[in-house]
Amino acid sequence: EGDAFLKNIASQNDSPLTHEEWEQSAEQKMKAHEFGHIRSGAGAEETLRRNRSAFSKWAILPRMLNDVSSIDTSITLFGHKYAHPFLLAPIGMQRLAHEDGDLASVRAAAKWDVPFIASTVSSYSLEDIAEAAGTNPRWFQLYWSNNEAVSYNMLKRAEQAGYEAIVVTVDTVMLGWREEDLRNNFSPLREGIGKANYLNDRVFMESLTDTSDEGIIQGILENIHHPSFDWKKIEDIKRATTLPVLLKGILHPDDAILAVEAGIDGIIVSNHGGRQLDGVAASLDALPLIAEAVNGRIPLLLDSGIRRGTDLVKALALGADAVLLGRPYIYGLAVAGQAGVEQVLENFIEETRVSLALAGIPDISKFASIKLIRE
Ligand code: FNR
Repeated sequence: EGDAFLKNIASQNDSPLTHEEWEQSAEQKMKAHEFGHIRSGAGAEETLRRNRSAFSKWAILPRMLNDVSSIDTSITLFGHKYAHPFLLAPIGMQRLAHEDGDLASVRAAAKWDVPFIASTVSSYSLEDIAEAAGTNPRWFQLYWSNNEAVSYNMLKRAEQAGYEAIVVTVDTVMLGWREEDLRNNFSPLREGIGKANYLNDRVFMESLTDTSDEGIIQGILENIHHPSFDWKKIEDIKRATTLPVLLKGILHPDDAILAVEAGIDGIIVSNHGGRQLDGVAASLDALPLIAEAVNGRIPLLLDSGIRRGTDLVKALALGADAVLLGRPYIYGLAVAGQAGVEQVLENFIEETRVSLALAGIPDISKFASIKLIRE
């Protein structure tokens, strides 16, 4: 008993503990415009703030005397068993935070059995990320491309590299109004640290008339801007792959229903960490409406504002099957590379375990037994 109790305590060294402390350390370490790009949200950052305040509006009514001597956090999604009910969110251009970028993050994820979602605009190619992941599960996030042949080729590459699901981000048909970046005149894509997947894409490279550095970056920018994206395309994408397809960035329950009708396999309720349309609802506040509309037909994941284990408990109690962690692991990466991400994950995993135990949830199937009340 005593041993089990001690094992619940993460191997905390002198690294930061809370998300706020990691953020501060990252800020000290990074150039102001680079840190600002990661921290900031769009517009007046209303949604960015709401992503945090939404969690404190809900209070947990835990259950007691439920025998929590062993806690099973595993979940099953699309026929795969995952050790934890959370994944690492797709974050582009991770070399901003650390030169090892996505490779360091995915190795840390593999150490703790946390699935990793690789971004279209990753700093290392999806093949290199897959190799660094080893046997650890990974999903691929797709930014639909104006040149569709490029996207279909990336889908094929992801299938070949052992990715288990495709996450199509639907809230980014163009970049949000990001004032921090505008003020700093900063575009990480223009810096060329998010082009690995394109450089390794035969179809993309052959489509270019100008293959200089500048030509490649222009090509990527033109590919990523795709305001004509619509539901018809979603059906085409679904037909083009054998992998499960999730839509990331759904907030309206009617869109959730359209997703189900289009044969989509899962939804990630997300506002892109407050970086796209400012003023939208916190993902957590949209979740109950979407859960009601979807009514268990497909899995629901949630991101935007998850910072601690108790946030995960609240999201799962409100209907999510799993959550995604965004900025927290990037701050770990910025502060100490792979070791920093490992520490952030260990803390999150252990706090989650303690939170589940104290809420009286020995395994994920018992979530229905607790209640949340709105303050
Ligand atoms: C992102 N996000 C993102 N999403 C996506 O689908 N593809 C991407 O390439 C990126 N890139 C990216 C870069 C940075 C610096 C940030 C902060 C975010 C959004 C990300 O997947 C996720 O939705 C949010 O980060 C979740 O919110 P939190 O956890 O950061 O609050």
